[in-house]
Amino acid sequence: MEESGCKNMANFPNGFLWGGATAANQVEGAYNEDGRGLAKTDVTTGGTKDKPRMVTYIDKDGKPGEMIAYGSSLPEGAHYAVLDGYYYPNHKGVDQYHRYQEDFALFKEMGFKQYRLSISWSRLYTRGDEKEPNKAGVEHYRKVFEELRKNDIEPLVTIWHFDTPLVLEEEYGGWSNRKLIEFYVRFATTCFTEYKGLVHNWLTFNEINNPIQFLDMKGHPSDEDYQEACQLLHHQFVASAKAVQIGHAINQQNRIGCMICGITWYPGTCDPKDILANRHAWEKNIFYCGDVQCKGYYGTYAKRLWKEHNVELEITEEDLMDLANGTVDMYTFSYYMSQLVTTHEIRDIVQGNFSSGAKNPYLSYSDWGWGFDADGLQYYLEMIYDRYELPIMVVENGLGAYDTVEEDGSIHDDYRIEYYREHIKAMDRAIENGVDLIGYTTWGCIDVVSAGTGEIRKRYGFIYVDVDDEGNGSMDRSRKDSFYWYKKVIASNGEDLS
Ligand code: BG6
Repeated sequence: MEESGCKNMANFPNGFLWGGATAANQVEGAYNEDGRGLAKTDVTTGGTKDKPRMVTYIDKDGKPGEMIAYGSSLPEGAHYAVLDGYYYPNHKGVDQYHRYQEDFALFKEMGFKQYRLSISWSRLYTRGDEKEPNKAGVEHYRKVFEELRKNDIEPLVTIWHFDTPLVLEEEYGGWSNRKLIEFYVRFATTCFTEYKGLVHNWLTFNEINNPIQFLDMKGHPSDEDYQEACQLLHHQFVASAKAVQIGHAINQQNRIGCMICGITWYPGTCDPKDILANRHAWEKNIFYCGDVQCKGYYGTYAKRLWKEHNVELEITEEDLMDLANGTVDMYTFSYYMSQLVTTHEIRDIVQGNFSSGAKNPYLSYSDWGWGFDADGLQYYLEMIYDRYELPIMVVENGLGAYDTVEEDGSIHDDYRIEYYREHIKAMDRAIENGVDLIGYTTWGCIDVVSAGTGEIRKRYGFIYVDVDDEGNGSMDRSRKDSFYWYKKVIASNGEDLS
């Protein structure tokens, strides 16, 4: 790794919000404590990069059924269930529910200005459809936010991070049902009211574009798949827009953002057909959601997309008003990789963050096959800022990798440092080119249970957690080399990347 670029131009503005990010279901554990209800992740087993996560259930006769892949429909009459003899990694997470004070002290030691975390919906509303929240859940997060403030760390709160209460999935059919808008809005209103003054920065839905982006991973999605994805997304857009309006009414200081799974799409060849396909990939995967949430209406291309797939959306006049009145204050996104789009035969497919595409010969890939493309981050930032001219935060970015603990307990994760160094340089260049980038929270600043595979060995953290994929270990925390490195980066406001 050449050192010449280590002292960079440091264009990061004063007050830049350096920090890290996690999600409740991936770190908290305590899945059935203090009145928390179940979410889908609680009935989902661990997998690997080659073996999908599975969901457990009891069949219509009350007997344990054959596991099914996450995302498949349950057999007729079956119910999701936690069964004996299976290990569910999200049940324990990394025990942040009980260890948040220790974790926040470590974040402070690194100099974090901001910590992105999410609120588990089923901690506040056990079933999801109650009128009143669960007091124990409300009080837990109050203590969490107070503790962050004590450490001078600004919370950035994701209201929904993949964890719709299981009852809403089973009894109401999940987000395909318009009723969920009402339940979500009640949940979000409780968050804005209870944590007024403690939290100012909010994200309504994590990676809201996943349902539509994910369609391509099915190979040949049907018109029904498109219909379902577009309708459920429409419900989430309306829920988000209503939440934005309520959040602003409760506290004008609230800054509320969208959160998009940011993939930089490139044409696989210079065939004009690929160039056009690439443009359409941006429209479907990235702009479709960003435009509604930032501009307040569907882009023109949405009509083409609906027509191509025979989608007939149920949209009311009131929905359109809500979308127009509930635009977000900032654009936030995750960034891990780019993908190639081509109309030509693909020999080597790579799977990534809720996306797949042709392998790019100019990139290197992680052990989980995710491409390493820091230039893609600069491209994405410049493209998006030019489109919306809203403040931007990169709220997820990181490298999932195997870590080795040496005999003396040290962990030399220079691969992670190199990954971050290049991505921070890319952000720096984008700022120099005029992008109003205001914050950066690396993904899994402390090791977390992977969302995609359920593994803990796919580690992202600056902080190592002693737990394995069967849940064995002390849960003790220790500092990796990257911990000390990131501390220096923050202290120098992005100047010292050596
Ligand atoms: C994003 C999610 O998709 O990517 C996170 O918002 C997730 O929840 C992250 O953990 C990394 O993906 P994975 O599959 O490596 O955990």
